Amino acid sequence: MTRKLEGGKLLVATHNKGKLSEIREILAPFGVDVVGAGEMDLPEPEETEDTFVGNARIKAHAAAKATGLPALSDDSGITIDALNGAPGVYTADWAETPAGRDFKMAMTRANDELNAAGATPPRTAQFRCTLVIAWPDGHDEVFEGVMPGQLVWPIRGEHGFGYDPMFQPDGYSITCAEMDPAEKNKISHRGKAVAKFVQGCFGG
Ligand code: IMP
Repeated sequence: MTRKLEGGKLLVATHNKGKLSEIREILAPFGVDVVGAGEMDLPEPEETEDTFVGNARIKAHAAAKATGLPALSDDSGITIDALNGAPGVYTADWAETPAGRDFKMAMTRANDELNAAGATPPRTAQFRCTLVIAWPDGHDEVFEGVMPGQLVWPIRGEHGFGYDPMFQPDGYSITCAEMDPAEKNKISHRGKAVAKFVQGCFGG
């Protein structure tokens, strides 16, 4: 039995504005007061685990302890079949530069590595999202979502964030960055994980 969330404030333990705005939009109908980690000036803990769930746990427990609020964290990324699941938990790292994150560079690297591996279309990949909600007493719950699709080149679209312009979900001929954000939320890894969270923590 999943522990229920009793209204009030929910801290979303992410400094990523794209993730925060998607989670906020999906939770809007539930009357939860969503507060972002950036708004509370929380430090970003180091993500030292080699699994999505391990890193999501680190972020959720650190935020719950620091604030005394239930805290929801998101660890997500893309797994590319022809690259044996890379970049996986290192998805954000592929975008790191001394001047900040550069996702055009990260997507170019993914395309270059696929070319080097001789991967032919469809270059199948999955967006994966693990959500962890942690309470200040140390209890936590885990929810996961996957969106299967393929990587395309050249990149297309202006919406969304991260690798969205390169990712075409199964059943679509447009990328996530060409989709209306509400449409992406209906089918995305994050949308599916948040739906499970809502069912678990607000459902009967
Ligand atoms: P982390 O969970 O903050 O370690 O980083 C996850 C990375 O995966 C983000 O920086 C994004 O680049 C990428 N990512 C996760 N979800 C999405 C998505 O919905 N669209 C595009 N990129 C995503």
